[in-house]
Amino acid sequence: MLEPDRILRLEDDRVVFLDQRRLPLEEVEVECRNAAEVADAIRSMVVRGAPAIGIAAAYGYALAVAGGDDPNEADRVLRSSRPTAVNLGWALDEMRLDPSPEHARAIHRDEVDRCRAMAAHAACLLGPGTRALTHCNAGGLATGGYGSAVGALLAAWDLDLLEHVWIDETRPLLQGARLTAWELEAAGIPHAVIADSAAGSLMAAGEVDAVLTGADRIAANGDTANKIGTYSLAVLAMHHEIPFYVVAPSSTVDHATATGEAIPIEERDPAEVTTRFSARNPAFDVTPARLISSIVTEHGVHADPYRQSLARAVVAA
Ligand code: MRU
Repeated sequence: MLEPDRILRLEDDRVVFLDQRRLPLEEVEVECRNAAEVADAIRSMVVRGAPAIGIAAAYGYALAVAGGDDPNEADRVLRSSRPTAVNLGWALDEMRLDPSPEHARAIHRDEVDRCRAMAAHAACLLGPGTRALTHCNAGGLATGGYGSAVGALLAAWDLDLLEHVWIDETRPLLQGARLTAWELEAAGIPHAVIADSAAGSLMAAGEVDAVLTGADRIAANGDTANKIGTYSLAVLAMHHEIPFYVVAPSSTVDHATATGEAIPIEERDPAEVTTRFSARNPAFDVTPARLISSIVTEHGVHADPYRQSLARAVVAA
C-alpha cells in the first residue's frame, strides 16, 4: 500500500502531492506554497478523489493560517476549487474550528482509519471467488491512503474472497486505467482494464459478481454522486441482479442535502473529451438510492431505507 505521506503531506512551508495526472508513467511530486496553489492542484486534479480533496483543503488551510494569510480568502479559494465532493467543505468546516497543522494531519490519519474500518465491513458482503467490478479510482490515491471501494477489495483479497477485478477505464481522464490498475498491480491482485462500455456484456456473460464504487457525496436519502458512468453501472447491475455497493466514509455523507437532485454536478472543460468537436463533460452523475444494494461506511453496512440507516453515519468527534 502507498504510504499516506507519499500521496500528500504537509511540511513546514508547503503541501506536497504525488502528481496523479502523471501516473502511472511517472512518480513526480508537486509542491504548493499557499492556499491558492493548493486550490489549483485540486482543480487540475494533481490530487483527486473526495476524501483526498478534503485532506488537501485541510492542509492548504493550515498552511495559509500558519503563514499569516487571510483565512477567509483561503477558505473561499479552497472551497470553490471543485463543487461535487462534500468532503472539501466538511474538512474546511473542521479546520475553521482548529486551523493547526496537527489538526489537518489528524484529519488525514482519521480518513485512512475510516477506510480500513469500512473496508473490513464491505469485504464481509462478498462471497468466496468474487469477481468484482469497480469504476474510477476509490483507492489510496483518492482517500489519502488504503482506499474505500479499492480498500474493500484489498480487505477481500486478504480474506481470500476475491478472485479478480474488472476495472472500468473511466473516460475521459482514465482514473481506472491509470490509477486503480496501478494500485491493484502493486497489491498483486488479478485485474483487467475494460472499456467502460464493456461492463454490460461482461455482466450478461455472468462474469461479474459484485460492483463496488466510492462516492463524492451521499445525500440524506442515499442518492449518491460519483464519477460519471456510475449511474449506468448501477442500472446494468440491477438489470443483471448483481449487487451494487457504495463504500465511503461518513465525511462523504451530506445530511444537509435531502436528495440527489440538490447535489451540484461539476462540468469540466469539454477539451478533456475532445478538442476537435463540440463536447459536454459532466464529471459526475447521481445514482438513485433504489439502485444501491448497500452503502458501507466506517460505522457498518447501511441498507434501505437510507434516510434512517444513514442517520448514524456521522464523523465521530
Ligand atoms: O474526478 P475524481 O477523480 O476526483 O472523481 C473521483 C471519484 O469519482 C471517486 O470515485 C470518489 O471520489 C470516491 S474516492 C474514494
